[in-house]
Amino acid sequence: MRMVDIIQQKRNGHVLTQEEIEFFVAGYTRGDIPDYQASALMMAIYFQGMDEQEIATLTQAMVDSGETIDLSSIKGHKVDKHSTGGVGDKTSFVVAPLVASVGIPVAKMSGRGLGHTGGTLDKLESVSGFDIEMSKADFVDRVNTNKLAIAGQTGNLAPADKKLYSLRDVTATVDSIPLIAGSIMSKKLASGADSIVLDVKTGSGAFMKTLEESEALAREMVRIGNNLGRNTVAVISDMNQPLGFEVGNANEIKEAVAVLKGERIHDLRRLSLELAAHMAVVAEVFSSYEEAYDQLAENLDNGKAFEAFRTFIAAQGGNVEMIDDLNKLPSSQYHVDVKSPKGGYVAAIDAESIGVAAMYLGAGRATKDDAINHGVGISLQKKIGDEVSEGETLAVLHAEDAHPQDSIDRVLSAYVIEDDQPDPITLIHKVIK
Ligand code: URA
Repeated sequence: MRMVDIIQQKRNGHVLTQEEIEFFVAGYTRGDIPDYQASALMMAIYFQGMDEQEIATLTQAMVDSGETIDLSSIKGHKVDKHSTGGVGDKTSFVVAPLVASVGIPVAKMSGRGLGHTGGTLDKLESVSGFDIEMSKADFVDRVNTNKLAIAGQTGNLAPADKKLYSLRDVTATVDSIPLIAGSIMSKKLASGADSIVLDVKTGSGAFMKTLEESEALAREMVRIGNNLGRNTVAVISDMNQPLGFEVGNANEIKEAVAVLKGERIHDLRRLSLELAAHMAVVAEVFSSYEEAYDQLAENLDNGKAFEAFRTFIAAQGGNVEMIDDLNKLPSSQYHVDVKSPKGGYVAAIDAESIGVAAMYLGAGRATKDDAINHGVGISLQKKIGDEVSEGETLAVLHAEDAHPQDSIDRVLSAYVIEDDQPDPITLIHKVIK
């Protein structure tokens, strides 16, 4: 079998056979197939798509490219949560300890930033000492002891996805339903949770821009998960503006901590509770969504969720002093106000542009080997529906450069200011089971 023929098959819109998909995934993982051929195939899949059978085969081949984690020694029903990626999405830092605080074991595998979206691991590494590399035994031990561990996609877990994920990031082949579904579900299946709750983002800051595409992605992932014996639920949530106010790394941790301490940052708290309540129901710890939601909301307000977060940070070597005193987290040298050119109401914020502006500041990667600056980022001061007067600050850029012009321009172009107040936006669009 030759890789060039497989690329050509897909380029010409044909369905790949199981043998062809397995040949590619195994060969690329071993290093026998070079990045340029893998990139060409990714681009062909991007344009030609894959049918259900091809996606299932791709997912299984990526699971089989490495080991799978056996979580059976963890007591209780293990639930994992995964987001398809958004801007300012720090729900994992709220949801994971929140769910752990009601006794549900969360064994979570997370990734790094991709494209204009930030990554859970990059954000967590804002806390000095925090370690995402651990042996399987330590991972299991930590979940048994603290009900929560978050590990990087280290070792040999879905290594094909690990390689493809960073290749796609720099070859403009992220936003493809088969590739996202295969990537996310291979990791979720290999990491052994009993149930999976997916946060599928839709809108300007998501990989899937329309509700229709997002729903197709959600249904694909729910189908793969349920077919392979994992109870899978997808929440389709809005990403037409960043979630919360903070975009970056350390500043996102700060905002998550505020919500963990009961602060009413509306969209972040609401979505976190939604995801956590579904996790609690699939874990069969609560019989109804409403009962779960109320108890979880109480744990945000009574400090139990925050305590679970602190314990988790300490267990993974993180400096908890930075959590107790958030001013100790990394910060930047300059704070630059971006001012509104006119008065009116914020009608739209192009979340992807905000994500790219944060990336230019150094919060994300432009190429796969770039280092992250944890202290830079963007604090939005205005969100959709807010009134703004001419010259009022729309956002503050935390930068290492006193005049980060590219980012200023991006943020200015992201904001649409109109005379009339827009209709409120819907945060939770649909739940797919
Ligand atoms: N998140 C993933 O894990 N993979 C993707 O392809 C996109 C988002």
